[in-house]
Order: sequence, then structure tokens, then C-alpha cells
Amino acid sequence: MSNLVTREKLTRQVELMGEDAAQLIAQTRHSKELGEVRIKLLGRSGSLNNLLKEMGQLAAEDRPWYGELCNRLREEVTRLLAAQEEEFTQREKESTLLAEKIDLTLPGQMRARGSWHPVSLAQEQMESIFLGIGFSIVTGPEVETDYYNFQAMNIPKDHPAREMQDTFYLTDDLLLRTHTSPMQARTMERFAPQIPLKVIVPGKTYRRDEDATHTPMFHQIEGLYVDRDVSLAHLKGVLLHFAREMFGREREIRLRPSFFPFTEPSVEVDISCFHCGGTGCRLCKQTGWIEILGAGMVHPHVLQGSGYDPEEVNGFAFGLGIDRVAMLKFGLDDLRALFTNDVRLLKTFH
Ligand code: DAH
Repeated sequence: MSNLVTREKLTRQVELMGEDAAQLIAQTRHSKELGEVRIKLLGRSGSLNNLLKEMGQLAAEDRPWYGELCNRLREEVTRLLAAQEEEFTQREKESTLLAEKIDLTLPGQMRARGSWHPVSLAQEQMESIFLGIGFSIVTGPEVETDYYNFQAMNIPKDHPAREMQDTFYLTDDLLLRTHTSPMQARTMERFAPQIPLKVIVPGKTYRRDEDATHTPMFHQIEGLYVDRDVSLAHLKGVLLHFAREMFGREREIRLRPSFFPFTEPSVEVDISCFHCGGTGCRLCKQTGWIEILGAGMVHPHVLQGSGYDPEEVNGFAFGLGIDRVAMLKFGLDDLRALFTNDVRLLKTFH
């Protein structure tokens, strides 16, 4: 009979510990706390082991019964611990997911989209026209010597033509080039006596000028063709092709006599106004024509000074203002607008 009383008492203790354990586990807030509770319940000097100590006082026939009772408790507590641990892992996962959440419906980060500068647009188009008829592109230094900028171009010291091309001097002999023409001499020196020589030279040029149609820095494209039996007719053909590709199929060109020290004869070239078609408007100042470049047959002095024999070969050359072409092409009336970097203007060239 005393067995029954003992068993009842023990059952009660084990149940109490079970309830206690369930409560302790439920109250933990994170897995570290849960670890501490686990030790308190199942550790060496934990509650379960304390219960098992009773075993020593039990009658032999009660021991297996008690052992099993305690085992069931251990299983139950272990199950509760695992469930709680699982709960914490799950919660942690959810909070990471929440923290890393991406809202796919938010608008993306817009990247500002740039556009080509009108001068670059014009330059690229001009280059591709000349590339299309067999010219190659060469480029040269913007800081130039007096020799290449002037003397090799048949403009000796004290020549009055220097007056129109005052520039920025670095030393008595070094200057910012006033035109792309010095590359005529540099290219001929490099390739002489090979023919045919057919190049264009795009690049920056500088002069001491500033008004609505002049800026201290501007862009030119030089053209040079050296071969046997080159004539003004070849020049005219190339320039007419350029004018029509650039400004429209119906364009005509007109050559007027002019003077440049490095060409003989020299011409200035006009295209028929692409705005009014030649009848006269504000753009062409009522003349029907717009001046676009200077050109001529390469002067024998220039050929000779750069390594070609003027008795054997001759050539033509031309110099085109890229900014002026851009202004005409895009309808700008102040050249300076190209270089003030006003984003509102540049954005219109997307
Ligand atoms: N270099 C001249 C200037 O800047 C333009 C020019 C005229 C270039 C006639 C040429 C040419 O090659 O033949 O004013």
C-alpha cells in the first residue's frame, strides 16, 4: 500500500516538474536563454536529475516504473525544447527576410542619360563623309611651334597674315595652333614622297578672338590631298559631295577667289543656303549663299618644304570650321552657346 502512496507522490512531482518546465521554456525570449533553461532542466544538477535521485529510496519493484516515468518526462521536455528552438530559428529567418526585403514596385534609380555634344555630333558626321570617299584621319598637337603653325605654311616672321591669327604664346617659339593647317606639313613630312596622300585632320584650334561668331577655342577639320595631276575640279567635286551629304542633296557650291599664303590659287567656298534654298533670308544675309570654308591648291613652297617635289606632284587643301557647321546644322545663332555647357541646350541633342 505504501507503494501506491509513494507512486502517487512521485507522479505528482514529475507532473509538477513537467508543468514547470513547459512554463520556463515558454517564457524564454531567445535561443541563449533557452540554452540556460535546458541546463537547468536536463543538466547534471538539473531538475530531472534531482528527481532521479529519489530512485535510491525506492523499492526494487518501483524502480522500473519510476525510471520509465522520468524517461517520458525527459522526452517531453526535450520535445518542448526542440520546438522552442525551431520557433526561434524560424523567427530569426523571418526577421532577416524582413530586413532584406526588396520592394519591386518602387521606381528604379534613374541614371542621368548624357548625350553627344553638338560639336562632336557635327565632327563625327563630317569625318564619316570624308572617310566614305577615301580620306584617313590624322591628329596632331595643339601646342605647336612657330615653324609648323606659320613658317612651313608659307607665313614667314613678320608676314601680315599673322595679324589675323594672333594666338596664345607659351614661349617665343611655342604657341597654341591657330589652325589645323600645320598638320599639312607634319603629315607630308611623315609620308613624303608617297602618293596619294589623302587625310583629314579634326581638332581644336585657338585665336585671340571673342564675339558671337568667334571663341578663343574652336574646332577645324583640315583636308589635304596630294597626288599627281590634282586640279581645282577635284577640289570642287570633293567639296560639293561634302556640302550635299551634310546639308542636303539640292545644295550647290560656289568658289570665290581669295588669298591664303599656303595655297595658290586660293578660294573661299560658299554653299547655297539650305534655309531658303538660295532666294535670300536672314541666315544667308539675303545673299542666298553661306560661306563655309577656305581652300586652294597647295602652294609649291609648302610642298617643297615638307618633302614633296612640286614639279612631280600637286594637291589641294581645305579648312572647315566644325563649330560653324554645327551652328548652321542645328540652327544656333551664338557660337558661344556651344561652350557655356548649358544643360538645357545640350539636352536637346538626345
Ligand atoms: N587655315 C585657314 C584658316 O584657319 C583655313 C584654310 C584655308 C585651310 C585654305 C586650308 C586652305 O587648308 O587651303 O583660316
